[in-house]
Amino acid sequence: MKQRSGFTVPEGSSPHAPRPRVATAAGQLIGRLTCLTCPGSLRLGVRRLLIHCWIPLIALLPVLGAASLQAAPEVSAPALAQEAQQIADCRARIAVSAPSIDQACLRRIYSLPISAWPAPHISEGAIWSELAPLPAKPPEPADNPGTPRKIALGRKLFEDPRLSASGQIACASCHDRQLGWGDGRSVPFGHDRKPGMRNAMSVAMSAYASPLFWDGRAATLEEQALHPIEDMREMAFTLKQLERRLDRSDDYPAEFARVFGDRRITSQRIGQALAAFQRTLVPRFNRFDRFLEGRRDLLSDRQLWGLHLFRTHAGCMNCHSGAALTDNGFHNLGLHFYGRAREDLGRYNVTGDPADVGRFRTPSLRNVRNTGPWMHTGGFMDLRGVVNLYNVGMPRPTPRAGQEDDPLFPKTDPLLQPLDLHRTELEAITEFLQTL
Ligand code: HEC
Ligand code: HEC
Repeated sequence: MKQRSGFTVPEGSSPHAPRPRVATAAGQLIGRLTCLTCPGSLRLGVRRLLIHCWIPLIALLPVLGAASLQAAPEVSAPALAQEAQQIADCRARIAVSAPSIDQACLRRIYSLPISAWPAPHISEGAIWSELAPLPAKPPEPADNPGTPRKIALGRKLFEDPRLSASGQIACASCHDRQLGWGDGRSVPFGHDRKPGMRNAMSVAMSAYASPLFWDGRAATLEEQALHPIEDMREMAFTLKQLERRLDRSDDYPAEFARVFGDRRITSQRIGQALAAFQRTLVPRFNRFDRFLEGRRDLLSDRQLWGLHLFRTHAGCMNCHSGAALTDNGFHNLGLHFYGRAREDLGRYNVTGDPADVGRFRTPSLRNVRNTGPWMHTGGFMDLRGVVNLYNVGMPRPTPRAGQEDDPLFPKTDPLLQPLDLHRTELEAITEFLQTL
């Protein structure tokens, strides 16, 4: 088991973390005692007290020192040992898979710092990193900083149907803000209403995806942006024609000059602006981030149970881990239709490696409630259906007659095994997914 250094933000160091309130016994004592010696100080805060009443305060310092020492709450060794025992009991009680769970214990354990949560169940060979809030800004390449003007140009290009041969289809036709930055369909339709081959993935978390696409055929967001323009099922244009069209337009040459310093419109610059815009789409600091940062009351009992199962018995963190909830790896979930009409060999089409037949990229699960229908096929209309299929270990197609010696026959990832979870547990996982 390897731990990858993900986008981990140390607990408590985030700009979003609430400032702790310091109300010590000593502070209260200073307040009370100084009231006696300094008339009118009753309603003053400690800071103002120090300004207005410093003479009596100095006189009282030795007394206060002794008093505050005594006022410090004492935790006896037996009490500490008792608490440790209770926590250990709780850990044992929530460690088993059952139709219900001791909610008080679950809450107690998950109010501890993340490092003290039950360790995720990780199988041999899996690459994972601990769950963490999303950083304030996603990573961006040094040669394409997202300046406000470039982002604005990227948004305009993203929404502009002039990027397609027909002048009818924009990136936003298939990546719609109101549909979780996908298109809400199993597969999209593009040029001449041709149906696409795979589900239009949400681009909200693409800043964290590398490589991109279900099969990882684009290395960077900059490079990816140019693929749909030339894809015959999508925008069916050529980059040369697009450059010429934008060059002759009334608006773009001046806008490119403002962003890049001169009026030259190149496909590389188009890709840079589109990428810079898409990096701004990462969902804002949401409920799950605030939960991870310490607001442990933000998940309901069932959602918390779902999180616990996601980490442990359901084994989801073998592939969905870290701040973005993905290992950015490729896995075979048995959804390739090998040898059938709808066959899709996935990663194999890019690498030519027989081990990659039927493998697809692990998508981020952030915002997953808004990005359905799910999977590269777009064949799952509700999240509960996805969770049910994980519970039975995903499809494991076996070779049919004549396929026994086929070296390309795909094998479902051994990280996926039947989970045998209870109905209530599957419901809890589904509810947890809604919080991401
Ligand atoms: C006709 C629909 C359609 C149009 C138009 C379209 N896309 Fe897509 N987009 C898709 C589909 C389908 C996929 C997944 C394809 C695959 O993986 O093989 C995808 C994947 C992506 C991804 C990869 C996401 C990831 O996390 O890996 C990005 C980014 C993206 N599109 C951006 C764009 C941009 C930018 C444009 C405009 C230049 C655009 N798309 C136009 C349908 C479309
Ligand atoms: C072996 C790695 C692996 C494990 C373990 C795993 N996933 Fe996935 N997950 C993937 C891959 C790969 C995909 C995309 C597969 C495809 O489309 O063919 C995916 C897709 C999904 C999707 C659909 C996302 C979308 O945008 O379409 C959901 C939801 C999901 N997984 C939830 C879970 C849950 C819940 C668990 C635990 C029960 C889990 N996953 C365990 C690798 C994994």
